[in-house]
Amino acid sequence: MSVELANKIAEIRADFPVLETQVHGKPLIYLDNAASAQKPLQVTERIKQFSTFEYANVHRGLHHLSNVATEAFEEARGRVAGFLNAENDKQIIFTGGATDAINMVAYGFLEPQIEAGDEIILSVMEHHSNIVPWHFMRERHGAVLKWVGVNQLGELDMQAYEAAFSDKTKFVALSQMSNALGTITPAKQLVDIAHAHGVPILLDGCQGAVHLKNDMQALDCDFYVFSGHKVYGPSGIGVLYGKAERLEAMRPWRGGGEMIREVSVDNVTYGEVPHRFEAGTPPIIEAVGLSAALAYMQNIGFDTIQAHEAALAKHAMEAVGAIDRVTIYGTSPSKGAIVSFSVDGIHPHDLAMVMDRSGVAIRAGNHCAQPLMEHFGVAATARASFAIYNTHEEVEALAASLTKAIEFFG
Ligand SMILES: Cc1ncc(COP(=O)(O)O)c(C=O)c1O
Repeated sequence: MSVELANKIAEIRADFPVLETQVHGKPLIYLDNAASAQKPLQVTERIKQFSTFEYANVHRGLHHLSNVATEAFEEARGRVAGFLNAENDKQIIFTGGATDAINMVAYGFLEPQIEAGDEIILSVMEHHSNIVPWHFMRERHGAVLKWVGVNQLGELDMQAYEAAFSDKTKFVALSQMSNALGTITPAKQLVDIAHAHGVPILLDGCQGAVHLKNDMQALDCDFYVFSGHKVYGPSGIGVLYGKAERLEAMRPWRGGGEMIREVSVDNVTYGEVPHRFEAGTPPIIEAVGLSAALAYMQNIGFDTIQAHEAALAKHAMEAVGAIDRVTIYGTSPSKGAIVSFSVDGIHPHDLAMVMDRSGVAIRAGNHCAQPLMEHFGVAATARASFAIYNTHEEVEALAASLTKAIEFFG
């Protein structure tokens, strides 16, 4: 690692005071970033400033403070549009999270057109958030879920993907990067193949948005979703990006204030996109926090983010992979900084609990990806997931803590 990059990472770490804290008397080594990343001071301070001095409800427009808040809220929308290189701010809808955004597409876009026997293509490595809304379409409307498998490296089976299309295919929903394996899927190719069959595609960008530079105009997907809490921002907010014509065709999913043009006792007409999809008071403070988080990432730059995380991933794969009795799940060369593993004879939950005693925070479980666990024939894995503030020393500490835990269980 160059001195320049090391200095940069040290500077970044200073923005995250939680990284200076201790758990069980040991320095915290936070490796549960795929679940939620920590927030830098730039985000928490902006939230405090906005909440203390600039807050009012938005779009009500008759007083100064509401205008200030509305401006900040719409600035956040513009920030997200810029972050994704969307053509227009109106393509950004604020939701309660990625899960909420996927449900919005299932109910707003797909449900009005789905008929019994229509097919939806998914992969076995989707997060439950990108599975269960489609199961609802199966249960309630007789849709058929077509599953694309993964190979032993944890890569999508592209031949199976192509073969999954039929004249009944109505929708494709796939992940850009697996939260359970770290695999980065060939997103552009997935989009192109779907479009060659005339089928719209949603990409789950929950992991992709924080680790990869995205360009919606180049990627050309119909829908893209991500969550604020994984991109160094607050929880309680997510983003749905949609192509303009797709959003225009989408039925409002939730009804309430702010999303209407007119309401009478026997009729209702809807407002414009994106407000049509933001019923009720939106996550105003969260949007402002998200904007600060995206600005923070843009300030670091994806060149730095990707270079540092790739080095961490390589180091972690080698260090964890070298430990006796360890199996790593997800060994594709195309993968981000997530290492999922198991240790022969020790339950991942036990590992995680013992490692926590040495300050190392990892996740253990099915990672909301039960079909994937089934594919690999395991009930759970342990997972270390990295962020821009993690260091190579922390990778070494992870390996040392894992080795110690294995010795402990014998
Ligand atoms: C790939 C992926 N999709 C969807 C989700 C769901 O995100 P949220 O719980 O923020 O709605 C997650 C969160 O872990 C994820 O990693």
